[in-house]
Amino acid sequence: MDIRTALREGMARLRAAQVPSHTLAAELLLMHTLQHDRTWLYTHPEAPLDATAEENYFRLVSRRAAGEPVQYLTGRQEFWGLEFEVTPAVLIPRPETEHLVEVALDRLGSRGIKINMATGAPSAPLHIAEAGTGSGCLAVALARELPHAEIFATDISAAALEVARRNAARHGVSDRIHFIECDLLSALRPSISSSQGRAFFDLVISNPPYIARGEAASLPREVREHEPELALYGGETGLEIYRRLIGEAGDMLDRDGTLVLELGYNLANGVRAILAGDPRWTCVRVTNDLAGIPRVLVAERV
Ligand SMILES: C[S@@+](CC[C@H](N)C(=O)[O-])C[C@H]1O[C@@H](n2cnc3c(N)ncnc32)[C@H](O)[C@@H]1O
Repeated sequence: MDIRTALREGMARLRAAQVPSHTLAAELLLMHTLQHDRTWLYTHPEAPLDATAEENYFRLVSRRAAGEPVQYLTGRQEFWGLEFEVTPAVLIPRPETEHLVEVALDRLGSRGIKINMATGAPSAPLHIAEAGTGSGCLAVALARELPHAEIFATDISAAALEVARRNAARHGVSDRIHFIECDLLSALRPSISSSQGRAFFDLVISNPPYIARGEAASLPREVREHEPELALYGGETGLEIYRRLIGEAGDMLDRDGTLVLELGYNLANGVRAILAGDPRWTCVRVTNDLAGIPRVLVAERV
């Protein structure tokens, strides 16, 4: 079988299984099998697949047709222009989560936090905490953008932290990210006490699990059956983790520190209400994603 036939056959099987973006999925699985890029595939349509490659490719096509996400089959996903390893232990990084990085960088830059505004050079180390790091995509993207940042990234899943550590190493930022297994930010309290009782962090950022338990049935099958439950569900209403996280972030952020949270599609009002009930927060703003859904919330610590 040649490349052109393999692609056509793979696309046809995925289309018959009603896989979304079946053309792209067939291409990605063949690229992964042959370890060649898309240009190579389309410039070598008559190149033959050996028997092993053909068997491997159609095995992946069958798994995709049965519902496994392409990213778990290829083991990779791009985020913020960087390639991340992903396994079924971590949420597949989503494009909308890149807005959190944009908003955080914009806030830190515009407010001149630990940056000499005259020269643009970093002044003192910037301290960042991330709750629920998963693949480490947010922590790694921030570490790459902010060479003066020291990041404390937590997750309750030891298996996720293993993946995150490998991603930090892959992108050369292991020395500035501390990965910690704990519930939300609970293990970071000693960092505060070691800084003479002063709240320590300049930025707390999180894309927490936020889907309400009752909404599980409405999730796409790929998500519901393959992505980790720990990464998806945020309690009965989806607001439970936000309430705890906002309380902890209030204790940990320095005065004028910034909180950046990803929001579930229908949770903006609920999260705003939590912040409104706590006098430690001000300047609450919500930004929409490209689909027009309120997606990123920013607040400042008074
Ligand atoms: C929605 S995923 C986000 C992963 C990654 N930051 C991203 O944006 O792609 C949420 C992550 O929070 C972790 N998590 C869930 N409950 C947690 C808790 N109580 N404390 C710390 N991490 C938690 C999950 O294991 C998962 O990795």
